[in-house]
Amino acid sequence: MEIKTIKKIAVLTSGGDAPGMNAAIRATVRAGFFYNLEMYGVYRGYEGMIQNEIKKLESKHISHILERGGTFLKSARSQDFRTPEGRNKAYENLKKHGIDALVVIGGDGSLTGAHLFYKEYGIPAIGIPGTIDNDLAGTDLTVGFDTACNTAIQAIDKIRDTATSHDRLFFVEVMGRDAGFIAINAGIGSAAAATLIPEKKMPIERLVERLKARTKAMKQSNIVIIAEGGKSGGAAEIAEKIKKQLPYYDIKVTILGHLQRGGAPSSLDRVLASKLGVAAVEGLLQGKYDVMAGIINNKVVYTPIAKAIIGNKEVDEYDFRVVKILST
Ligand code: F6P
Repeated sequence: MEIKTIKKIAVLTSGGDAPGMNAAIRATVRAGFFYNLEMYGVYRGYEGMIQNEIKKLESKHISHILERGGTFLKSARSQDFRTPEGRNKAYENLKKHGIDALVVIGGDGSLTGAHLFYKEYGIPAIGIPGTIDNDLAGTDLTVGFDTACNTAIQAIDKIRDTATSHDRLFFVEVMGRDAGFIAINAGIGSAAAATLIPEKKMPIERLVERLKARTKAMKQSNIVIIAEGGKSGGAAEIAEKIKKQLPYYDIKVTILGHLQRGGAPSSLDRVLASKLGVAAVEGLLQGKYDVMAGIINNKVVYTPIAKAIIGNKEVDEYDFRVVKILST
């Protein structure tokens, strides 16, 4: 593949924000400066690209952002970028600024945008996996996942205090869209009584049996983790379905929701984001386009975006067994 001369790179964050996105922006921009490139920020993701919200970045813009949650470039889910007209407008704006290449930090939808844009306009683009869901192939972990799991576990620890004090049964719903990675980790890390994920079926009857068995075993508190994307419904629906079969329980439901997306990134997310920011810029300079930079077994790897987004990562069978063994 022909290696294009790259002098100006624009970076953007898109889709749901994730802790560590700022660290990834900083690393991308600093790596660009290291290689004497001009760096630009696109505000509000692809929507901002269409609206020409593109600004040249200097060191001062990225100082003290590594440790902050969210994304200072802001994020959006752009409907217009899904249309050829929207992408054309975005392309014209990049041309106006003389931008040669793009670094897109986001999840599968955001990386799909980069892939399409590269196919249509040939703008070298590289992705950094930034999503709390951890649902991209081509990397062991996505930026934001570790922090989200820590946040979920800390919240569940607090719920456990009140669950134990009142002998209550709690259904806690965690995020992850269609993937159960946050749920599995939260389940293991918070000693859940059961963990329901979209990837594995657990009939409601089996859940009821498990909870009845735990009652007999005089377990002090029962916390059931429900991944939001499950086929049996969310935490509220499942709680409703089983409450008649467990009449002696005072059942409560907590949806952790967007609090899982906020907060300062963990050390793991800061380091991962920093490594991937450098990998993205170096990848572009080496002619790696239409790929996502990821880390597998501690080594940087570049995976074609088309594979990273459709190769939906499987939940590790071993992790699932651990959940099962430890929650009986
Ligand atoms: O992809 C990240 C995520 O937080 C998912 O876990 C969740 O399903 C979704 O985004 C929520 O999106 P929004 O913030 O647009 O409601």
